[in-house]
Amino acid sequence: MNIREKIPNLPEIHVESNLNLLLRRAKENRTVDIEEYETTGGYSALKKALKKFTPEDIVILVEESTLRGRGGAGFPTGRKWRFALMNPPPRYLICNADESEPGTFKDRIIIERDPHLLLEGMIIAGYALGAKEGYIYIRGEYPAGYMILENAIKEAKEYGYLGENILGTDFSFDIKVYRGAGAYICGEETALIESLEGKRGHPRLRPPYPAQVGIYRRPTVVNNVETLSNIPIIVTYEQYFMNIGSSGFYGPKLFPISGKVKKPGVYEATMDITLRELIEMAGGVKDGKKFKAVFSGALGVYSEKDLDMPMDYSPKGFGGTGTTIVLDEEDCIIDSLLVIANFFHHESCGKCTPCRVGTYEQLNILKKIKEGNGTEQDLEYLKHLAENIPSGSICGLGFSAPQAIVDAMKKFPEEFEAHLKGECPAGICF
Ligand SMILES: Cc1cc2nc3c(=O)[nH]c(=O)nc-3n(C[C@H](O)[C@H](O)[C@H](O)COP(=O)(O)O)c2cc1C
Ligand code: SF4
Repeated sequence: MNIREKIPNLPEIHVESNLNLLLRRAKENRTVDIEEYETTGGYSALKKALKKFTPEDIVILVEESTLRGRGGAGFPTGRKWRFALMNPPPRYLICNADESEPGTFKDRIIIERDPHLLLEGMIIAGYALGAKEGYIYIRGEYPAGYMILENAIKEAKEYGYLGENILGTDFSFDIKVYRGAGAYICGEETALIESLEGKRGHPRLRPPYPAQVGIYRRPTVVNNVETLSNIPIIVTYEQYFMNIGSSGFYGPKLFPISGKVKKPGVYEATMDITLRELIEMAGGVKDGKKFKAVFSGALGVYSEKDLDMPMDYSPKGFGGTGTTIVLDEEDCIIDSLLVIANFFHHESCGKCTPCRVGTYEQLNILKKIKEGNGTEQDLEYLKHLAENIPSGSICGLGFSAPQAIVDAMKKFPEEFEAHLKGECPAGICF
């Protein structure tokens, strides 16, 4: 019986691709088992890697591919691997499947529908890094994904792709899956490592970076699900990988789109696609309404003027995880910011005072503004917090907590001014 049949109630998520790489097998809402994976070319990249390439060859391939990590920061994957290789074994590989940012639901598509693609990427990465063990840290709210991965690991072991002496070689590698317990901060790589070690998920001070001192104080590569799923594609296509896309940011990218579009879902495209084209791919703004803004998950706000930006990692690109939440004329910027501020206040782990207290202050000021009780001093205080929360924080949550507010103040000043006068342009606050 296909594992999917044992798992009821997976949400129907629309998936579309004109590349057919990462989402090649994931268009239908069902899990591809190992037999279907094999008959559609699966595990051929692993066979090729073990037969044709040394671990060093694979690292060079990944470096040359210029692949950037898909977990948000866009760090070059090959450089991270090289950094880990500069430190003596044992080395570990961790797949970050915590996917907890608002509006982000791309990794779950690979996990739930094509889990062997991720496993194959991890096994090749383990081979390249000289690792014997890999871990997948999956968010607690993905119980189906957890079961699917456990089942796929069992299948991969039965078929000789995982475990001792993989495909008759002297390379052995095992993968274990761990479930998170609902904290966004555990997606931050050092907090994730602490959590995996059985401790409270608080970020560590960096440096040293995980590639130097990671899990069990050993060199550890932490990569996102989508990043690792690109590895079999790189091994298959080799230098032709650089034909996928044209802006210098190569390879397929997944974009989760939600909000006021006709066809919300996960879209696969090259990173030279613009924000406008992506929204069009999702059918455009629904119900004939006027576009207002895009929230990039919790991390940034874009206006109509930004619609022609590329969805890449250049300084003027969209960057991040590619998460796109579309707002229309009936949405209120302040009301939406309040959701984001509440999220950061709730998810701050509390280790750094500026983040712990500052996210609380941001929330309270935005509540005041939304209720029509805000003042000019409140706006000044928001700017003060925007400078001081990041500078007094040790991790990316604190660095980015004020970003959406800062963007919105620059791009939608009229929304703030109107609320100070007791008016809401969208007509929902008062
Ligand atoms: C608060 C916070 C949450 C994060 N959550 C995730 C996550 O859920 N998944 C992820 O891959 N990266 C997440 N990251 C980024 C990771 O710290 C890390 O950069 C990433 O896993 C590296 O993978 P990549 O190089 O393949 O992008 C988060 C970072 C921060 C600061
Ligand atoms: S910046 Fe915030 S989330 Fe990050 S460690 Fe400090 S308190 Fe925790």
